[in-house]
Amino acid sequence: MSIFSKFKRQPFRNRKRAGSLIRDLYARYVAVVVILLVLVAAIQFESLHSALVVANENNLSFALRDALSESAIEQGITPQTFAKAAPRLLLALSMRGINVRLYDPQLHPIGERLSKYDPANLIPVRPDMLQVMRKNETRVCRIASAYVMQTHGQMLLLATVGSSRQIAGYVELGYSESLLYPILLQQSLKFLLISLLVVVFVAAILIPVIRAPLRPLHRLIETALRIRDGAFQERFPLVGTHETVRLAEIINDALDLLASSVKREQDATERMKQFVSDASHELRTPLTAIRGFTDVLLRRLDSYVQDLEVLQRSVHLKTELPDELMARLLTNAEKVTGMRQGLLTMQRETGRLEELVRDLLQLAKLEQGLKPQLFDVELSAVVEMLQPQFQVLAGARQIIYDLRPVVILCDQSMLQQILYNLVMNAIQHTDPKQGIIQVRLRPLEKQRALLTVTDNGSGIAKEQLARIFDRFYRASGARERHPGGAGLGLAIVAEIVRVHNGRIWAESELGVGTTMFVEL
Ligand SMILES: Nc1ncnc2c1ncn2[C@@H]1O[C@H](COP(=O)(O)OP(=O)(O)O)[C@@H](O)[C@H]1O
Ligand SMILES: [Mg+2]
Repeated sequence: MSIFSKFKRQPFRNRKRAGSLIRDLYARYVAVVVILLVLVAAIQFESLHSALVVANENNLSFALRDALSESAIEQGITPQTFAKAAPRLLLALSMRGINVRLYDPQLHPIGERLSKYDPANLIPVRPDMLQVMRKNETRVCRIASAYVMQTHGQMLLLATVGSSRQIAGYVELGYSESLLYPILLQQSLKFLLISLLVVVFVAAILIPVIRAPLRPLHRLIETALRIRDGAFQERFPLVGTHETVRLAEIINDALDLLASSVKREQDATERMKQFVSDASHELRTPLTAIRGFTDVLLRRLDSYVQDLEVLQRSVHLKTELPDELMARLLTNAEKVTGMRQGLLTMQRETGRLEELVRDLLQLAKLEQGLKPQLFDVELSAVVEMLQPQFQVLAGARQIIYDLRPVVILCDQSMLQQILYNLVMNAIQHTDPKQGIIQVRLRPLEKQRALLTVTDNGSGIAKEQLARIFDRFYRASGARERHPGGAGLGLAIVAEIVRVHNGRIWAESELGVGTTMFVEL
């Protein structure tokens, strides 16, 4: 099992909450463009307005030049020359479609003429309006931008004729808003349309512009995903800007460190497993020899003892034997009985040792990746096959079978081992007379099976329950009930279940009994 496995299936918890960088940048860019456009629009409006003022100034200048003689302008316009030129001035301005009213320096009207094209009525100019006039010494006339648009539905422009030394009079020009607005509106709409086009255009250009610097980030993400999904050898590409290259370098260094420490750990585990496997192999050979010789010796001794008995019987039948020989034979017979006891112990212990080595070897093999030979197996038939053997081992204990036919893909001999180990445990931990063991088999969804072995035995304490699948673990009390075990039986079962991608767990209550569950 790799140390990465626990990170493997972690979902992206923040995916919903965090917006994408590209969308964020995009929104910011577009927002900036819109703000700029609004600013430009304001400037545009302002300049439109001043253009209007300049146009009127020009209108007025030309009209004044038309109305006054060259010499009058050169000598400086006086109130008298202004009053004399008034009718011509009124005509000239109204010809241009402007409503106009003239005042003398004391703000008394000296004539007015309304254009037939503009329905606006001129409002009387008040002295306070004059105070906002801009000073302009070099021009013939000066325009004051006295706006009264909102209140009177028209735009009013006021001009001073003459110079600051001598004011010759005032000219008031008026335009209806109703005539001005369509022009302004048209201009604004035009501007709005152009702005919209600019926004769309900028947005379209921005997509590749923003994407380009983000591309290395996407490559980093793709690499990270591959590494997460198992490509632990892969490293981040050194692409993009200084920041992404630096990030990639640092993560690569960290990955190298991690990989080497994982490698060290794997090597150590590998060496350990190899050691167990080798050691078990080496142990097996001499054990087999010892066992073989013990068996042979025992058999020979047995036949010797039998011979002795025959001899004794022949002595009984008064067949003659030398006294000395008889005595020796009888002493040897005593020694032989002692030897036999020793040999029997050796035989028993060798048997246990063989069992232990066999279990260790099997565990090592399973851990080294021994693959189960998978076939469709009818589980209830396997249980039934083992029933006679279980009955012998159970003695006076009762075994109840509750089996439903289930066919699953599994290794039959491994399955037999599971059954054997579980039922043997149940037998070992139940009372020889009152013991009841139940073996249950049920089909589950998706071609899976649930096997349970229940007993009414000693049970397992809660704090020990979690450890019973560990190697060499034996719960307290197990040694008295079943002295031979080494605590490997359930570890083997758990390994077999693991290579079958199954599940195993136990429920137990002290003094009531235990149920082992195996899902395959
Ligand atoms: N059916 C059971 N009832 C009570 N205790 C059990 C049962 N099965 C297993 N155990 C406990 O789990 C321990 C480990 O079992 P196992 O791996 O088979 O080793 P062993 O049988 O060699 O002791 C046992 O020593 C025992 O304490
Ligand atoms: Mg056991």
